[in-house]
Amino acid sequence: MRKNKHQRPIGIFDSGVGGLSVLREIQGGYPAENLIYIADQAHVPYGNRSRYEVLGYSEGITRYLLGREAKLIVVACNTASAVGLTELRKKFPDLPFVGLEPAVKPAAENTSSGVVGVLATPATFQGELYASTVERFARGVKILQDTCPGLVDQIEESKIDHPETREILEKALKPMLEAGVDEIVMGCTHYPFVIPLIREIVGNQIRVIDPAPAIARQTGRLLEQFDLKTAGDNAGETRFLTTGDPIKMERQLTDLIKLETGVSKLIWDGGILRDG
Ligand code: DGL
Repeated sequence: MRKNKHQRPIGIFDSGVGGLSVLREIQGGYPAENLIYIADQAHVPYGNRSRYEVLGYSEGITRYLLGREAKLIVVACNTASAVGLTELRKKFPDLPFVGLEPAVKPAAENTSSGVVGVLATPATFQGELYASTVERFARGVKILQDTCPGLVDQIEESKIDHPETREILEKALKPMLEAGVDEIVMGCTHYPFVIPLIREIVGNQIRVIDPAPAIARQTGRLLEQFDLKTAGDNAGETRFLTTGDPIKMERQLTDLIKLETGVSKLIWDGGILRDG
């Protein structure tokens, strides 16, 4: 039976568990909404993959979510947004999308030192979206970038408070500190999970920007704009699916967002996503 449009779920996806940093904000802000979260862990990390690959995965996931009657899609991945958001909007013109881009604008507006640090994946830095954001909003601001090699993998392994994770972050952040950054942008949705460690390294004087609350608010605005909001008395349900190992993801949900729940398996079948 088709659900009425308000009850239809919001689809949220990422290469892995990074998008959970966005999901928890959406759950908190809009608890009545039904959510479907897809982690494409068969392909994580996306950050070193080609544009062609990431586009294909993003499209396959979007088609699957449409099959589940998604009313709106949150691309909870900077990499997939950088590579594919424009294409996705063209391919699915009737479907509202919320995408992510590194929060360079608020950082550039706020900086007193004129030096801003951005942590994101190689694919995000190479995308046109990032270049145009820097060009439009950060003229005259010095931007220091780092791809934090290996950090996504550490977070996927739940190695949050871990010597190797600290080493990766110190390597990225120390040169930024020496250059006088006062704003650090989390340009990858995995990275907010290591903000406590980042704080230990940079102290409390520097602003660390996690875009998730702003993304949740933008999701709410689109729900209003397209008249898609679920009635407030609904107890929203969230379903989790992975193209990787469901048992592993169940552990990750407990480790990262303190949630004990089941995860279902999805299988890639020649570019098409099917229930496993
Ligand atoms: N969490 C993603 C992002 O925001 C993807 C990281 C990756 O898979 O490389 O960029």
